[in-house]
Amino acid sequence: MSSFPENRMRRLRATPALRRLVQETWLSVSDLIYPMFVAEDINRPREIEPMPGIFQHTLDSLVSEVESVAELGIPAVLLFGIPSHKDEVGSQGYASDGIVQEAIRAIKQAQQELAVIGDVCMCEYTSHGHCGILLEDGIVDNDRTLELLAETAVSQADAGADIVAPSAMMDGQVGAIRDALDDNDYDNVPIMAYSAKYASSFYGPFREAAESAPQMGDRRGYQMDPANVNEAMREIEGDIFEGADIVMVKPALAYLDVISKAKQRFDTPLAAYNVSGEYSMVKAASANGWIDERRIVMETLTGIKRAGADLILSYHAKDVAEWLAEER
Ligand code: PBG
Repeated sequence: MSSFPENRMRRLRATPALRRLVQETWLSVSDLIYPMFVAEDINRPREIEPMPGIFQHTLDSLVSEVESVAELGIPAVLLFGIPSHKDEVGSQGYASDGIVQEAIRAIKQAQQELAVIGDVCMCEYTSHGHCGILLEDGIVDNDRTLELLAETAVSQADAGADIVAPSAMMDGQVGAIRDALDDNDYDNVPIMAYSAKYASSFYGPFREAAESAPQMGDRRGYQMDPANVNEAMREIEGDIFEGADIVMVKPALAYLDVISKAKQRFDTPLAAYNVSGEYSMVKAASANGWIDERRIVMETLTGIKRAGADLILSYHAKDVAEWLAEER
């Protein structure tokens, strides 16, 4: 490379057309997955206080919202359920008439284009709020939980889920789910694995949305330590080995190095989850007039993609889809 004054980096920044020619990262509506909440015991949609614009939906409001998501060209939604009844073993998570199973059926009936992804976890369904069933001493029983996660995945596939997404951070969850799906003739249902999921404070608003905060203790016995990156590579490698079709890093913004490293190392499609706390911070600052929401969100999602994410799960997805359409 020549140096100044032969080289002038500003030459290619002079006009919008030149900038467009050399733009390296393009955010596309096809990259987006929109997470949504559906609750059993409500009569009308309920806005989640720390997540303005995001609702716990009824089955009806979910279906109409999904129609608008599809119209915007977003290819997929991710569903979380809030059951009216929670118990020690999270039985509403894998009930054939559970809220997520009903929601998948309702969406599929109304809308065939969009991919419906079921989140496979137990924390929204257990009375204690942990992501699996507990041993007496409050520790999550990994191997017994695997059976229930597998049952959950199969029940979602029965309802018509296009993808299942295990997020419990149990060892062996991808393999257990792959086996169960295959045994039930769902060998074509892909798994999007929350592979490197950190024990993060950025999930705070989600736990309010999903009413899933652990009643005692925390999730550090199964979710990853935010200090670790090599361990994330081992998690991802293990999930790919067990049959994951898409792997995920979560959260996104404080973990861009993890995304980048994963992208360099693995060829499996890589998703990043721009989580609830990341959304809430942007919303709070923009409500105060302290930041330009649109520019901040586009910059953030572009950064996540530049780091290496192929897919981005984001509560901003609908807004981003609209802004991208306006830009064209
Ligand atoms: C369930 C789950 C969580 C999120 C996605 N799936 C919460 C948690 O692990 O506590 C967080 C999503 C978000 O914060 O937006 N295990």
